[in-house]
Amino acid sequence: MKKRIYITRRLPEEAVAPLRDKYEVRMWEEEAKSVPRDVLVEEAASAHALWTMLSDTIDRELMEQAPQLEVISNLAVGYNNIDIEAAKERGIIVTNTPDVLTETTADLAFGLMMMTARRLGEAERDLRAGEWKSWTPMGYVGMDLYRAKLGIIGMGRIGEAVARRARGFDMDVLYHNRTRRHESESMYGFVYAELDELLEQSDFVVVLAPLTEETRGMLGVEQFAKMKSTAIFINVARGEIIDETALYEALNEQRIWAAGLDVFAKEPVAMDHPLLTLPNVTTLPHIGSASIQTRLAMMALNREAIMNVLDGEEPKNRLT
Ligand code: DGY
Repeated sequence: MKKRIYITRRLPEEAVAPLRDKYEVRMWEEEAKSVPRDVLVEEAASAHALWTMLSDTIDRELMEQAPQLEVISNLAVGYNNIDIEAAKERGIIVTNTPDVLTETTADLAFGLMMMTARRLGEAERDLRAGEWKSWTPMGYVGMDLYRAKLGIIGMGRIGEAVARRARGFDMDVLYHNRTRRHESESMYGFVYAELDELLEQSDFVVVLAPLTEETRGMLGVEQFAKMKSTAIFINVARGEIIDETALYEALNEQRIWAAGLDVFAKEPVAMDHPLLTLPNVTTLPHIGSASIQTRLAMMALNREAIMNVLDGEEPKNRLT
């Protein structure tokens, strides 16, 4: 009998086709809507492999009802949607998709910095709405990136790729990380800073840390209060790393200048979310790794990891 793979979202056929001969492949056929929990639990119950999205909650309860499950491969570098401890205890292998998305996500982070600082979204929306009446001396004036000070919280692979881009804009780069990156400091001139120091000094504060118990809620009232009134805050990591109410208040009272957000604590973000009411917030629908090449490369990593595990081989990017 063929081993069974369940894919939790419709993926392009070219990504899935190589699995079809050897395995039984089932897939949630909608692209724009997550698989409902009851369907996911039912499918997982008979699956040997789950190919999951960052929007799926893969918890202990689900794993307990999936006796044959050998591997969970997540289409993301982040894996906070999966209970890693529960997977370890049950001997389920979990894999993710690092490296292939590093540069693409760094491009998006940089794009969002520019979009927020130079008010590009607002300017484009106004033009399309027929609001462009005349060139004006102070119309859409924003903040410069070049020669500004960039503070990166979470200097992993993506953080470093953002910092490398910043050098082309003559930016000074500060970073805060659990561990020092001595090699990058000497190679690129990035400077390590304590969190408070980074918040106080940076013109752009960019969050690129993974969501863990340590980073959950790490930026709240106290941290936003330390930032410059001209600072721009960017989050392309995970919404739960920040206290969204504290961010709203800091922006609403103009204690910081603007924010660019690719992520929210609850996604998709509710249309009545207070942050969406603010003119100094630029938002995107969690598209950090969304280039055609990168998404296909991420899918190839998932596919290969699933095949490896089901065939008794060691997969790449193993987390458990
Ligand atoms: C990831 O892969 O974790 C990113 O959030 C995708 O944009």
